[in-house]
Amino acid sequence: MNTKRIIVGSVVSAVMLLGCLGIAFAANEEELEVSFSPEVVANYIHAVIAADRALYTTHVVDRLQEERVVIAAEAWKQRKALPLPAQMLLMAGKTVEMSGSDLRFRLASLWPIYEENGPSNVFEETGLEVVAEDPDEVYSGIITRGDKRFFKAIYADRAVSKACVNCHNGHILSSKHDFKLGDVMGGIIISFPLPIEKTETP
Ligand code: HEC
Repeated sequence: MNTKRIIVGSVVSAVMLLGCLGIAFAANEEELEVSFSPEVVANYIHAVIAADRALYTTHVVDRLQEERVVIAAEAWKQRKALPLPAQMLLMAGKTVEMSGSDLRFRLASLWPIYEENGPSNVFEETGLEVVAEDPDEVYSGIITRGDKRFFKAIYADRAVSKACVNCHNGHILSSKHDFKLGDVMGGIIISFPLPIEKTETP
C-alpha cells in the first residue's frame, strides 16, 4: 500500500473538509494541487445530509412520536430507546455507502468496543495514534487501491461529556476502562476518491 503523509494546506474540519473545492498539499516536497468539480463535492455533501435526514426521521422522530421514547441505549431496536450518537454516525456512513457514493466515513478507535471499529490498516492505526497524541492534528494522506487514489483524513474524537467516559469505561466489551473527560477516545475517518491524474499530452 502506498501511503504518504501530507500536510493539508487549507483549514479543514470534519465534513467541512468536503466544502473545500481546492485542496493544496505538499507531498515529498513537491506541491501538488488537486481540485474537485463542484458537482462531486455537492454530491458527497448531499449523500451525508440525505443519510442523516432519513436516519433522524426514522430512528429518532418516528420513535419519539410513535413510541414515546425518551432514552438512548445501545440495544435501541430491542428496547424502547433511541440509537446512540456513535450508532447514528456509523449507520449514516453505511447508508451513504449503500447509496452508491464513493464517500466513506466511520468512527474508529485503538480501544474499540467492537473489533470492527478498530483500525483496518497501518495508515488508520498510525493516524489514530497521531490524533490521540495531538487532538488538534488532522492526519491525512493519499492511499492507493488498485489504480484508484483516495484522500483519507482522520480527526480526533474526544470525550466531550461524562456520558462518553462512563458508558465506555463501564461497557463490558470495552478494552479500556480508564477514559477521562477530554481524552481522545478514537477518531472519525473520512475518505473519498481523487480524480484520475491527467497525463500530459505532447
Ligand atoms: C451509552 C453508551 C455510550 C455513550 C454515551 C457513548 N458511547 Fe461511544 N460507543 C458506544 C457503543 C456501544 C459503541 C459501538 C457502536 C457500534 O459499533 O455499533 C461506541 C462506539 C464508539 C467509538 C468507536 C470505537 C468503539 O469503541 O467501538 C468511539 C470513538 C466512541 N464511541 C466515542 C464516544 C464519544 C467521544 C462519546 C461521547 C461524545 C461516546 N462515545 C458516547 C457506547 C457509548
